[in-house]
Amino acid sequence: MKMKTLITGGTVVGPLGATPQDVLVDGETIAALYAPGAAAGVTADTVIDATGKYVVPGGVDVHTHMKLPFGGTFASDDFASGTKAAAWGGTTTIIDFAVQRTGEVVQDGLAAWHALADGNCAIDYGFHMIMGGVDDDALKAMDYLVAHEGVTSFKLFMAYPGVFYSDDGQILRAMQKATDNGALIMMHAENGIAIDVLAAQAVARGQTDPIYHGLTRPSALEGEATHRATVLAQVAGNTPLYFVHMSASEALAQVSAARSAGRNVFAETCPQYLYLTLEDQLGAPGFEGAKWVASPPLRPRDEPNRDRTHRDDLWRGLRTDDLAVVSTDHCPFCFKDQKELGLGDFTKIPNGMGTVEHRMDLVYQGVATGKLSLERWVETCSTTPARMFGLYPKKGVIQPGSDADIVLYDPRATTTISAATHHMNIDYSAWEGFEIAGKVETVLSRGSVVVADGAFHGRSGHGQFLRRGLSQYLR
Ligand code: URP
Ligand code: ZN
Ligand code: ZN
Repeated sequence: MKMKTLITGGTVVGPLGATPQDVLVDGETIAALYAPGAAAGVTADTVIDATGKYVVPGGVDVHTHMKLPFGGTFASDDFASGTKAAAWGGTTTIIDFAVQRTGEVVQDGLAAWHALADGNCAIDYGFHMIMGGVDDDALKAMDYLVAHEGVTSFKLFMAYPGVFYSDDGQILRAMQKATDNGALIMMHAENGIAIDVLAAQAVARGQTDPIYHGLTRPSALEGEATHRATVLAQVAGNTPLYFVHMSASEALAQVSAARSAGRNVFAETCPQYLYLTLEDQLGAPGFEGAKWVASPPLRPRDEPNRDRTHRDDLWRGLRTDDLAVVSTDHCPFCFKDQKELGLGDFTKIPNGMGTVEHRMDLVYQGVATGKLSLERWVETCSTTPARMFGLYPKKGVIQPGSDADIVLYDPRATTTISAATHHMNIDYSAWEGFEIAGKVETVLSRGSVVVADGAFHGRSGHGQFLRRGLSQYLR
């Protein structure tokens, strides 16, 4: 039987504004919005009092890696633990990266990811495809996935030679295919060939601590790769191109230039690049910095100069829309036994950290400190990710007909992040001690309350696979 839920007294927030409205949910979708007082005669099975709360569309995190194989181990969250943690943090949709390992048939890689996720997710989910080898068969598979599988975005790597790396010829061919079929190419832009030389030289000098992971991946090599990718996309016919996990001013400048030239170029950043630094986290004493080893690395605190840092530029990019999305690149590894694989050699530390639970809170700190508007918080965390990856208006907006993925956010509550209280399957927190102004209070996923009153009410298997359309931003 379809249940009706009425959310009363809150302020509904979308990219265009914040409006006091009541929200009626009927079954799995939003049925109606009412001006204050106008829902007086409406009957519902449940009434949720949202007085003093923001009512926002559930978060859409388009960059997660549940169980990603990396460096001889696997990311420590599976789809059950990772989606539950996401829900705790107000994220109601993830798009995870299915993996075609080099030499593997693309469709087999996709089937393996369905097997991992099917029946295990607490929230809805979609897939991108990591292309571990661009050849004739893989190019044909791209057409098939777009036309038949609801997988419309493909990640290529200019980094990690010998693992996920594609050379410029492979990238160009995949881009030409995407120009034809409308798919979005997602690019990990770091010059991996040059980085591997610098890393080997550092290890040979005995520079093996985690901080050398950052020092051997300079921001100029992210900027160079970003430029090269935009040129390849231009040559391939204005291919839709989306840069993942952007960390550096030099890279952002390339995106700004391409966008000013009217190209289909987009980018995301992640909370770690907005807040954390090479000196403060990656440079922590001893092996502690391994907790923050990810690629691209955390950037130096005062670059590119003391008046303007990478972090300042990224916040500016979020305001101007040169950065359209905040995702997490959630790729957790426990410190014990996983990060420890790199003791004595930073190149062996599995790359990644866990943030899927904290994205809405961490970006909201931009609102709390005046760096970002309330509307832009919702736009970068929910609405634009949904549109960028072909899920709008099913996801990313509170309006009649959309899925009832809804978060009640209390701007007056405060929390402190800690591994002792988080729900991700990691034995440490990259955000330990971070004080958060605001709190995810109640979360609905397709009309079902999954988080309320400090408890989880969802279940593994509630989440459904989302067949996605093409990006809705293409020019
Ligand atoms: O360090 C990272 N980012 N790990 C996940 C894999 C990737 O490159 O996104
Ligand atoms: Zn990447
Ligand atoms: Zn990633």
